Amino acid sequence: MEFFATSSAPARQRTECAIVGVYDKGVLSETASELDSRSGGRLAKLVKKGDLRGKPGDVIILADLDGGPCERIVAIGLGVKGAFNRKQYRRALNAALTAIAKTNAREAINYLALEVVKDADSYTLARIAAEVAGNSAYRIPDHKTANKRPKSRLTKLGVSTTRSDRSSVERGLEHGRGIVAGMSLMRDLANQPGNVCTPSYLANAAKTLAREYRAIKTRILNEADCRKLKMGSFLSVTAGTDEPARLIVLEYYGAERSKAPVVLVGKGVTFDTGGISLKPPPGMDEMKFDMSGAACVLGTFRAIAELNLPINVVGVVPACENMPSGRATKPGDIVKSMSGQTIEVLNTDAEGRLILCDAITYARRFKPDTLIDIATLTGACVMALGNQMSGLFSNDDELSNALAEAGKRADDRAWPLPIGEEYAEGLKSNFADMANIAGREGGAITAACFLAKFTDGLKWAHLDVAGTAYQSGANKSSTGRPVPLLVDYLINR
Ligand code: BES
Ligand code: MN
Ligand code: ZN
Repeated sequence: MEFFATSSAPARQRTECAIVGVYDKGVLSETASELDSRSGGRLAKLVKKGDLRGKPGDVIILADLDGGPCERIVAIGLGVKGAFNRKQYRRALNAALTAIAKTNAREAINYLALEVVKDADSYTLARIAAEVAGNSAYRIPDHKTANKRPKSRLTKLGVSTTRSDRSSVERGLEHGRGIVAGMSLMRDLANQPGNVCTPSYLANAAKTLAREYRAIKTRILNEADCRKLKMGSFLSVTAGTDEPARLIVLEYYGAERSKAPVVLVGKGVTFDTGGISLKPPPGMDEMKFDMSGAACVLGTFRAIAELNLPINVVGVVPACENMPSGRATKPGDIVKSMSGQTIEVLNTDAEGRLILCDAITYARRFKPDTLIDIATLTGACVMALGNQMSGLFSNDDELSNALAEAGKRADDRAWPLPIGEEYAEGLKSNFADMANIAGREGGAITAACFLAKFTDGLKWAHLDVAGTAYQSGANKSSTGRPVPLLVDYLINR
């Protein structure tokens, strides 16, 4: 999709679809009123009849207008005038784009960005517009042979602005475009089934990125390489499967080489059966999304490369399947991690931390300024925070705050949860340096505490995205989160 800013007066801007707002009790916004009076006044008549009351999400499309600069007026309910906020703006725009998708229009102009939105500036309104439009045009790469959802025809979205706000709107559109490009890649990868999206498939996706963007380099390590590196913990997870594991390394240099990078580590379990500690059947298909952290790293790389951000970022993605078999790791088995610490695997379903710990240790060779891992790590995090916010854990308050703030700005929030000695207590083992699980309680926290044992001396944060990376139910699909949070964080570095 193409985005542009326009500061022409609405009356002089020709468009296929003018997206305008109507407030509560049928109060037309200034632009709605102006465009309507130039094209025959039908909107005012319909509002008078009570056909559009201005409740959030209400939509009317007027076509076949009597003159004026636009072919269609897409009128959206915005709710109470003084209370119009960012969230409602996002929802209104989404409703408008969904309605437009059902028409034959290929281009539209968003005039809602001219409204007063309590908690957003023109940069943010433009960025949201690009993000919402890009995501509404997104289609799952499904494998249907019939009844495929038609592609969206809309390929061009303009955002109306004033002359003085024009450059911030252009910057917002550009950032939104980058974010949505990253989200789309993440979603494409995570939506694929486990028999398509294997560790080698993820490795190929990384190679494709490196071919597409000169600033991205990639290196793929196989199991023999990982054995040489003594990644006993990572290898213990892949022991049960016939599908070869991969350790994917991505490097993006947008600043001087000497500048210490941000390292992103993404959990890439392309299918999590639980292993010998087998999961129950209901909903197990959703464990194809257990590589969402990995997909998020690839998506974030695409976004930062699209935006040419002047920073250095390294991605480390341990990718494997977690399967039961005669060669699988058994409960009670003891493995030695790359860090030298030994781990008693009491539950083979707590596999994410086992692959992440070796990836974190490997990442040390890049001398990270900051290391952030992203993982669908625990069901307990979903119990604690639901599907709204990601769990945020860190050994550095400044980093934690920066990520929480980025999440707020990006409408992709994360909520801080604690780590600490008192929680790590439960990870004690009689037979090894640690166990891979503690008790049932505080499961998201004890998982983070496990990872913390591998982050000595690193400035580190962990995002548990088990509840936010994908949706279940009728709209089962990857959400593209937390790409917006991470890209915002990286933009603001
Ligand atoms: N991939 C799962 C976590 C998960 C659960 C993600 C639900 C998304 C939705 C992870 O590997 C796992 O199985 N964790 C266990 C840990 C337990 C054995 C300590 C869990 O959460 O039950
Ligand atoms: Mn598991
Ligand atoms: Zn898992």
